[in-house]
Amino acid sequence: MATYPHTRLRRTRKADWSRRLVRETTLTRDDLIWTIVLSDGKAARDPVPSMPGVDRVNLKEIVKEATRARDLGIPAIALFPHINPKLKDSAAKEALNPKGLIPEAVRAIKAAVPEIGVIVDVALDPYTDHGHDGLMEGDVIVNDPSVEILAESAIILADAGADIVAPSDMMDGRVGATRKALETNDYHDVMIMSYAAKYASGFYGPYRDAIGTAAALKGDKATYQMDPSNTNEALREVEQDILEGADMVMVKPGMPYLDIIRRVKDEFAMPTYAYQVSGEYAMIMAAAQNGWLDEQRVILESLSSFKRAGCDGVLTYFAPKVAAWLNY
Ligand code: PBG
Repeated sequence: MATYPHTRLRRTRKADWSRRLVRETTLTRDDLIWTIVLSDGKAARDPVPSMPGVDRVNLKEIVKEATRARDLGIPAIALFPHINPKLKDSAAKEALNPKGLIPEAVRAIKAAVPEIGVIVDVALDPYTDHGHDGLMEGDVIVNDPSVEILAESAIILADAGADIVAPSDMMDGRVGATRKALETNDYHDVMIMSYAAKYASGFYGPYRDAIGTAAALKGDKATYQMDPSNTNEALREVEQDILEGADMVMVKPGMPYLDIIRRVKDEFAMPTYAYQVSGEYAMIMAAAQNGWLDEQRVILESLSSFKRAGCDGVLTYFAPKVAAWLNY
């Protein structure tokens, strides 16, 4: 291999046009999945204090947001519910309500903006009074009964018209049970995007404020979400979900887990996504609001890092902002 001075890596960097020619990854609007928090409250918009610029939106407003997403060229939106605490119980009954906030939102969006992809989370934490993603017996989050209700709730979401169901609970076997339920109910084309390698992360804090689970949640989710110290285990999680019928796999959180994304993409060559979670959003916004970081620059840089690591797309609260910045 030629070395300096035959090789001067700065040559191709010298002008904008040559930098463009050698660019290895490009972020486009096609990479964006907009994560949106819905509320069953009366207010059209309700700001989330720990996520400056993010509002919970109600049923009426979500149709406007979906329209905005379509007009901005964003391929898909992902919905998360903040529901009245009175509707929460230990059995997560509201997760099975066909007229619940999320099913109603999916129907309204599909009626008004049929061309946008609608992704819905499948987990119990917005609906349980204890804020865990599965059902509890004493202090234990029980796997198999949770899987049953999760699969049932996926059918309710498919009935409403969801294009992609996204199990985010990390119970064992939930993807297989969901795939089986979808097939049995003739939803052959509903996709599963599994939260395949989801870590027990401190970066979910603002999200738990946003959907109103923070106050009730005792302890952590370490018995079902992954240990942040592990890598090999992530590959086993992803492999299981693929074998059970996932069409797309996700790594979550995003930036602190770029190594996992790269390994997953290299190993399985599946459509692979990262979730740039609430805490990542909050960090960037807090620094930007203090004038400590250049907002646009670091947001674009953070999203590019996911492409570089091997992602096909990113779930991000920044999506509408970024789509407006990009013109392709
Ligand atoms: C749980 C769920 C979580 C997020 C989405 N669904 C995390 C959790 O509370 O464990 C986090 C999203 C974010 O932080 O932006 N089903």
